[in-house]
Amino acid sequence: MKEKLEQIKSVALTSIKDAKELNKLEELRVQYLGKKGELTSVLRGMKDLSKEERPVIGQVANDVREQLETAFKNLRIKFEQDQEDKKLSDEVIDVTMPGKKLSQGKLHPLDQTLEELSKIFTGMGYEIVSGREVETSYYNFDALNLGAEHPARDEQDTFYITDSIVLRTCTSPVQIHTMENQNLPIRMVAPGKVYRSDEVDATHSPVFHQIEGLVIDKDITFGDLKGVLAEFAKKFFGDKVEVRFRPHYFPFTEPSAEVDVTCVMCKGEGCSVCKGEGWIEILGCGMVHPKVLEMAGIDPNVYQGFAFGMGVERLTMLKYNINDLRLFVENDVRFLSQF
Ligand code: DAH
Repeated sequence: MKEKLEQIKSVALTSIKDAKELNKLEELRVQYLGKKGELTSVLRGMKDLSKEERPVIGQVANDVREQLETAFKNLRIKFEQDQEDKKLSDEVIDVTMPGKKLSQGKLHPLDQTLEELSKIFTGMGYEIVSGREVETSYYNFDALNLGAEHPARDEQDTFYITDSIVLRTCTSPVQIHTMENQNLPIRMVAPGKVYRSDEVDATHSPVFHQIEGLVIDKDITFGDLKGVLAEFAKKFFGDKVEVRFRPHYFPFTEPSAEVDVTCVMCKGEGCSVCKGEGWIEILGCGMVHPKVLEMAGIDPNVYQGFAFGMGVERLTMLKYNINDLRLFVENDVRFLSQF
């Protein structure tokens, strides 16, 4: 029996040495040490041995089992180590490689302008007010002193929902709601979408954005209006820009003006953008008409104010030299990522 055990040992050790991988090793372990394995079945014969032989053979059998177990264990550890090493070398990370750049989204240029405008005006103490895009014709026209016969009321210019409900054509109706609902004095700007029945082209769109401004207090003069808007233009277009006020007509302000800035392209020299004028119009403004104040429940003998309104697309196009308004809505990242 001793020889049998030695033989099992030497055959087993040889085949263990020859094993090339973990599965084969496990197979051999079962073959020799498993419940039905060769060593186990030899040990089962121990019961037939004499009392004297039993401890001797038992000792040998234990030695054999221990040696085999050690051999299995060492080789298994080696295989596992090899596997781990291979995995690590396959997954090698070069920490000196440049990182992957994550592309980050950003605000739409119009939103950037709106944020900038809000910052400029809140910095001057203005509050931001939101209005409604669907208005009654009273707020969109009558309360702004646009009489029943005013051409802007034409169906060709305005989207009517019913005879007396329209999509607002400018942000000026927010002036009226604010005067009706807010305590005096007022100092507010109201950004938002406006709607006109226009064909789409490079400078027109049926939907665009405006920002409205309104100041109502005692002793407000045209000088205040000029100061605020000149300051705004310099903050938005840069310190070098010059501002001029040109008399104009709006039904809801008296006197009214349009504001021009020196052409941002040619710096006043005259070019195709300013049509050789050297000046570019950026907004409309004026002193709030006494009739408008009265209709909104404010006594024009005690309070005065000024108002202004400007197109956000137009300001953005001028600031960044964009020549087609449609670019704002085409969602082409090659355009959008430039801002
Ligand atoms: N509502 C005018 C427009 O859409 C812009 C405007 C002009 C607003 C003069 C004003 C203003 O508040 O005083 O063309």
